[in-house]
Amino acid sequence: MTKKTYYITTPIYYPSANLHIGNTYTTVAADAIARFKRLIGYDVMFLVGTDEHGQKIQTIAEEKGVTPKAYVDEIVAGIQNLWEMMDISYDKFIRTTDDYHKKAVQKLFKQLYDQGDIYKGSYEGWYCTPCESFWTETQAVDGKCPDCGRPVEKAKEEAYFFKMSKYADRLIAYIESHPEFIQPESRKNEMLNNFLRPGLQDLCVSRTTFNWGIPVEFDPGHVIYVWVDALSNYITALGYNGEDTSLYEKFWPADVHLIGKDILRFHTIYWPIMLMALELPLPKQVFGHGWLLVDGGVRMAKSRGNVVDPVVLVNHFGVDAVRYYLLHEIPFGSDGIFTSEIFIKKTNSDLANDLGNLLSRTVTMIEKYFDGVIPVPKDIADVDNELIEIALAAPGKVEKAIDELKIPEALDHVWALIRRTNKYIDETTPWILGKDDSQKGRLGTVLYNLAESLRMTSVLISAFLPTTSGKINAQLNVDKITWDSLSSFNGTSAGTKVNKGEVMFPRIDVEAKIEELNKLVEETRKAAQKPTMEPVKEEITIEDFEKIDMRVVKVLECLPMKKSKKLLKLKVDLGGEIRQVVSGIAQNYKPEDLIGKYVVLVANLKPVTLRGELSQGMIIAAATPDDSKLFAVSIPGELPTGSTVR
Ligand code: MSP
Repeated sequence: MTKKTYYITTPIYYPSANLHIGNTYTTVAADAIARFKRLIGYDVMFLVGTDEHGQKIQTIAEEKGVTPKAYVDEIVAGIQNLWEMMDISYDKFIRTTDDYHKKAVQKLFKQLYDQGDIYKGSYEGWYCTPCESFWTETQAVDGKCPDCGRPVEKAKEEAYFFKMSKYADRLIAYIESHPEFIQPESRKNEMLNNFLRPGLQDLCVSRTTFNWGIPVEFDPGHVIYVWVDALSNYITALGYNGEDTSLYEKFWPADVHLIGKDILRFHTIYWPIMLMALELPLPKQVFGHGWLLVDGGVRMAKSRGNVVDPVVLVNHFGVDAVRYYLLHEIPFGSDGIFTSEIFIKKTNSDLANDLGNLLSRTVTMIEKYFDGVIPVPKDIADVDNELIEIALAAPGKVEKAIDELKIPEALDHVWALIRRTNKYIDETTPWILGKDDSQKGRLGTVLYNLAESLRMTSVLISAFLPTTSGKINAQLNVDKITWDSLSSFNGTSAGTKVNKGEVMFPRIDVEAKIEELNKLVEETRKAAQKPTMEPVKEEITIEDFEKIDMRVVKVLECLPMKKSKKLLKLKVDLGGEIRQVVSGIAQNYKPEDLIGKYVVLVANLKPVTLRGELSQGMIIAAATPDDSKLFAVSIPGELPTGSTVR
């Protein structure tokens, strides 16, 4: 019999350094679902990847003085390492810079053009580079992006457009007749009422002002809009428009696109319309989960400087403490919060106390009373039946919760079994039974039941906490876990020798650890914010230095430069000679601040043309490596212009 298939995707991440635990959340959640579906017998395709094109990446690379490809290669390697550290069991990692993806996107773009869904026009409106999204005059209130609140830029360029409006009614009808398509429910209404019902504008789908993207094959001055490029990954990864389409045939349509709520609009409006135009089936579900907030209810985001680094947490508390927190503490579909205090307390109570202790007590007692060999169970008492009932009901409950993508609830069902098993120890008091030889049989049954309950727990948590499940198996000497083995309470083989291992979650001194973690979090935040010093350059001689001719000049005129946030155009007086200089200091100076100032000019630098303007020299400035703080070196008093600086 062929297995049922299950295709789950995460968003493909922008390659930005230091992913925080907020970003990690989508992928950890998707991983738990993918692992669970594999466990219960599905043939799973779990796709992750990186979204590597666009203006934002090109600008970052330019600022760093490297090519965009060199920049993304390094970051993508870091993301892949992080996924390994977080135990992400992806089946495929797509990069939008992969050749097969680029070709497939060019092909689908051409198809849409040939069939008349894409046409050439000119765009005038606003653009938010961090979100890579277009906004109209009315949407971009006060010059800010309605999604992220950062300033938008004016964009006016020749562009291709996609006839979104042509498909709007069909999409509305589809959403209304498929209540499961957009989840949670509340997000569906937001999409319908805020975007679709007021009327869709045609979408600008190409850019000409930068070139880091997939070129439009039939008009190479244009690159394909990064969201069209990125969304297509869900089908190109399966070989759509490629040489081997067997995965596409097997797995499309996706069962679920798991994404954060901030990118729901792209996935529930642009993407389905693209698919409708290509006459392809729509994904069965788009699930927009909530955000991870920090104390005070603010979204965790790199741009806000409030991020928590998953690597720090994993190094100190182990990967499953982090996975447990993300999977259990964030109500699926709503926002959740991260604080050091809740993290430590939960790790301590749920993992160290409830689960870690249960395993360690069980294995210790099997060693103490039965020389480390799991005993044969004898007569079953009422109290045993209560435990067995809960254990046998758990798999069905967990499966149902995961079917509904309610991950925290699934874990609650497992913890109900773990807590019931702890209560079973209190009720059966094996340490008292152990004192009475006539109770050896009863003691054997109790310890067998404890081992069996832990074995079942290990299977049940294996999708969520794979490392912990592996550790339980190692101690109970279980070599294979299967979902089917949960249908009866006798999967443990009596006679097996247990191996007492290290304590799974060492007990935590809660107060001390909270303080330590708060400090760590603060340090990593500061380190992320504090630009490191650039290395001192190679040694030069005094003769080399004397070749640089620096002079005092007076700024006579200063003007902003069109289309540049960084550059200013200055006229300076160099001892009677007037020079024009283009200088990258606009982020820190308003033009009027500089007029009349005495600054330092490298006067013998070969002239260059920057953005069409001649620059005859360079203004000396002191700056942080990322240019976030910058001061032009100025002379405190008046000096005759043209004086040398040495
Ligand atoms: N590149 C786009 C996705 C293209 S998919 C065709 C993108 N990338 S991202 O790197 O900015 O975001 C990746 C994921 O992290 C998204 O699902 C986003 O919602 C999620 N999160 C970013 N900050 C988050 C929190 N603070 N909390 C939870 N998820 C967060 O968007």
